[in-house]
Amino acid sequence: MLFEPIEIAGIEIPNRFVRSATHEWMAQPDGTPTSRIGDLYEELARNEVGLIITGYSYVNPKGKSDDLQQGIYDDRFIGPYREIVARVHAHGSKILLQIAHGGRQTMITVDHPYILAPSAVVETTKGMTPEEMTEKEVLETIEDFAQAVRRAKEAGFDGVQLHCAHGFLLSNFISPYTNRRKDRWGGSTEKRTQLIIDIISRARELTGKDYPIFVKLNVTDGFKQGSHKHTLDAPESIEIAKILADNGVCAIEVSGGIAEAGDELFKTKIDSPQKEAYYREYAKMIKEQVDVPVILVGGIRSKQVMEMLLKEGYADLISLCRPLISEPDLAIKLKKGEVYTAKCVSCNLCSDESGIKCNYDFTK
Ligand SMILES: Cc1cc2nc3c(=O)[nH]c(=O)nc-3n(C[C@H](O)[C@H](O)[C@H](O)COP(=O)(O)O)c2cc1C
Repeated sequence: MLFEPIEIAGIEIPNRFVRSATHEWMAQPDGTPTSRIGDLYEELARNEVGLIITGYSYVNPKGKSDDLQQGIYDDRFIGPYREIVARVHAHGSKILLQIAHGGRQTMITVDHPYILAPSAVVETTKGMTPEEMTEKEVLETIEDFAQAVRRAKEAGFDGVQLHCAHGFLLSNFISPYTNRRKDRWGGSTEKRTQLIIDIISRARELTGKDYPIFVKLNVTDGFKQGSHKHTLDAPESIEIAKILADNGVCAIEVSGGIAEAGDELFKTKIDSPQKEAYYREYAKMIKEQVDVPVILVGGIRSKQVMEMLLKEGYADLISLCRPLISEPDLAIKLKKGEVYTAKCVSCNLCSDESGIKCNYDFTK
């Protein structure tokens, strides 16, 4: 099954391998994507990664999260992205632009010395309290995301992925830990999901109703059970997945964790099949409840587990981040039977501000 194609919202994806969105630290300081990013994606496409999702690209400089992050806040980015997309398509792979706003995890700069979030709840890793977004700021953000979707379409991307995970703005809105609003974007599960629905509706006005919109969804904030009174977890996150699918999202990538919960989002020490695919039970619950394909990410390393996930109804596609940093040719090697598991040891040394790369010393 791993090497069978799948169609999602009219996109024919040649196999079940997905490169999960990965910030590369390779854009120019103003967010312009570079040919170095194109080289990386082309290498993945040449090595038969069926669907490539870009690093998170910021929809407004007020929501930039990291240095050398790629942007999509201006029409001048369309040209450089078009070249990157063409390089990927030349090898038969498909490509989505992941779009994001940093929310509570926005980088403080001289130009943007404050953080915007749904509510003024202290962010404990930095000890900073964000400013609660005004209605005007929320409406502007909806427009920023929708214009980013339009730009992605004009650049030739096969679709976009809304980054609704990992403690960035859209996941701040869905989580009761970070969203304490009392207006139409806060309160009930439906109201906390409303911002994402509003973005989709406005994007549809600009691009037409068929342009594929994927989401990467946090299914849990990742806090230890019972440690926080207000927090996102199942079954509420499964309900959110249903609302999104009912509102036209074409596929859901299941992920979890926010910075404040620690080592949740990219776990280390994945050294046995049991520790792989750490969000698989959430994925299965979502798959049972929604009609759209489910993409699973997080600690998937071996062919045995990948095949099990597809066969036993946990997921429709297998998404990988760190394993494809150390082995961009992993999918081909698995296909040819040259290897049965990724060599990635999940050490996280690949988070390299000079540009992502595997920095683990395998000779040790
Ligand atoms: C260096 C690095 C950069 C990442 N950048 C992003 C990103 O831009 N967007 C995103 O949704 N997730 C990002 N992630 C999270 C991964 O996509 C993935 O969810 C996580 O690493 C777990 O998958 P893995 O075990 O296959 O690495 C990043 C992870 C790493 C290690």
